[in-house]
Amino acid sequence: GTVRLSKIIGLQEALKIILPGGAVNAKKAKKIGLVDKVIPSFESFPGQHTFWRGVTAFAKSKLWGKPTRVYTRPNKTWGDYFLNSTSIGNWMVGREAARGLDKMAKGRYPGPYFALDSTINAVSASHLDAEKLEAKYFGKLGGSSQSKALISLFKMMEGSKKFQEKCGGEGISPKKVGIVGAGVMGSQIAVLCAKKGLKVYIRDIKQQFVDKGVGLVASTFNAQVAKKRMSQEKANSKIALVTGGTGVEGFRDCDLIIEAAVELMPLKKKIFKELEKVTKPECVLATNTSSLSITELASVLENPSRCVGIHFFNPVGKMPLVEVIRCPSTSHDMVATGYRFALKLGKVPVICNDCPGFVVNRILGIYMGEAVKLAMEGCKLPFVDDALLEFGMPMGPFRLMDEVGLDVAAHVAPVLENGLGERYKSDPRYAELIKSNPQFLGKKTGAGFYKYNAKGKQGPLNSVFVRKLNNLVTSNSNASKKAIKDRCVMVMLNEACMILEENMVNCPEDLDLAMVMGTGFAPFTGGLLSYADFRGIPSIVKRMEWLEKRCGTRFKPHKTLVKMAKDGTRFFPDRPDPKKVRQIPIKECPRSKL
Ligand SMILES: NC(=O)c1ccc[n+]([C@@H]2O[C@H](COP(=O)([O-])OP(=O)(O)OC[C@H]3O[C@@H](n4cnc5c(N)ncnc54)[C@H](O)[C@@H]3O)[C@@H](O)[C@H]2O)c1
Repeated sequence: GTVRLSKIIGLQEALKIILPGGAVNAKKAKKIGLVDKVIPSFESFPGQHTFWRGVTAFAKSKLWGKPTRVYTRPNKTWGDYFLNSTSIGNWMVGREAARGLDKMAKGRYPGPYFALDSTINAVSASHLDAEKLEAKYFGKLGGSSQSKALISLFKMMEGSKKFQEKCGGEGISPKKVGIVGAGVMGSQIAVLCAKKGLKVYIRDIKQQFVDKGVGLVASTFNAQVAKKRMSQEKANSKIALVTGGTGVEGFRDCDLIIEAAVELMPLKKKIFKELEKVTKPECVLATNTSSLSITELASVLENPSRCVGIHFFNPVGKMPLVEVIRCPSTSHDMVATGYRFALKLGKVPVICNDCPGFVVNRILGIYMGEAVKLAMEGCKLPFVDDALLEFGMPMGPFRLMDEVGLDVAAHVAPVLENGLGERYKSDPRYAELIKSNPQFLGKKTGAGFYKYNAKGKQGPLNSVFVRKLNNLVTSNSNASKKAIKDRCVMVMLNEACMILEENMVNCPEDLDLAMVMGTGFAPFTGGLLSYADFRGIPSIVKRMEWLEKRCGTRFKPHKTLVKMAKDGTRFFPDRPDPKKVRQIPIKECPRSKL
């Protein structure tokens, strides 16, 4: 807690744990003096006796040995002594931490401000007074909307681990995985599989592509060795898990195969037919497609119950969400195996039914489309991006399109339009602009809406491209940031209601989890539907009706929302009443007297 931790490990180390809400592993905990002894893990003993003997011996030494020191971490250097054990040093540490708070809290999370104030106070206050302040702050934060939202999110993440409940089947936890295509996605999936101890066979059409993919695995683990995060021996054992080739022999004993070849339906069909012949009947045949129909792909199989979509996001190592897509023919067991595979890789899986764009790209598609409409109405791009950053998105929509690739986003738009309707229609002049400027496809080409340096760091607006875009603009929009935020969020909300109505996800929780984990949707709101609950459905409906009159029928509130407003219901009726919780604005947070 904020009162005792600094007394045990010193202010400097304590703040490193308290402010970001971080965790330390056993080795680090011992090093910084947080724990007195580390006993090898329970699993490393054949029987339980040695473990418990170790624990008992240690406990006895504590009970009948010398009393525990209050501050167990010795100040190793004079610098340590100065910063941890003098008031001026404590003041400097606290001030340095306060400076970093705004960046850490992103103007949204009050917790770190209260925690810092309480920790600093505890350095000089009496133990009782310090605990009183800690309790007061804890009570205040615990009642905030941010706290309720983050707790709901945590519960949803915990709930996602219960695979039997989610999948309705048992499946198996795959031991050997096959990957088709050693490109951007296939090679990253191979790295992650090896990291988690799974055997992999990766196949591509040419040996040089295979070598490149397998090479990524080797270079990733060797880089860990260079950074002293892994022993060479362990890295070698991970690297040895991944083999590859141009043939299909390596697929014979796989429990799950994920296809990550180029995004072409005829090619994927051919691969699936071939896989069905060479694999064992219980092996899951999965695809990583981001836009093609899983149902159509399954139709080429003699046993279509084997086909599942397992949609990873790029970069695979960083993005927590995996959409597990079932089509009408997919069996519960195959879904369960796909789901357990994602869990094994440390991901948050969300099951959805087969529809264009699945959940995340379907909602992001409409969001990006709205941003482009705002640009075509004359809104300045950084103004739109700022508005959505203020809302709590991890990056603005234009910055996001640069990240995804302008060509990729433009390629997905017609797929969504064909499958879902007019609301996804984009201005053909905009599509033409992207097509005729292959040098401006976003981060990967060094410029899109913004410019990027060689390391991929965002620079200023790309004035050449923006000028071309501005030539297409006919009006001069004066949309406020509030209107921009509402337009972008409310089109997403309407789409989310359609997804629920079509039963594309099991429950509203799954949709919110997918939004936060797959798009970074403002986590302190708990997700898109939680946000709507918190803002109040009747007020949302009113705002949408206002937008409908001015901007078009895509804002006509979905009938689910209208009914909910009329009946006074919410998406999450079991959660605390949003009227009784309050968002704590950052300006109300204590600023430590430093
Ligand atoms: N790149 C992304 O951001 C992203 C994100 C999510 C999903 N996806 C999906 O993942 C899949 C792969 O995308 P990518 O970006 O890795 O593509 P990529 O072009 O980087 O890699 C595709 C690889 O497949 C290989 N290939 C082609 N035909 C093959 C065959 N018959 N057998 C084996 N290998 C074959 C190619 O040689 C190439 O190495 C696509 O379906 C894409 O929609 C991509």
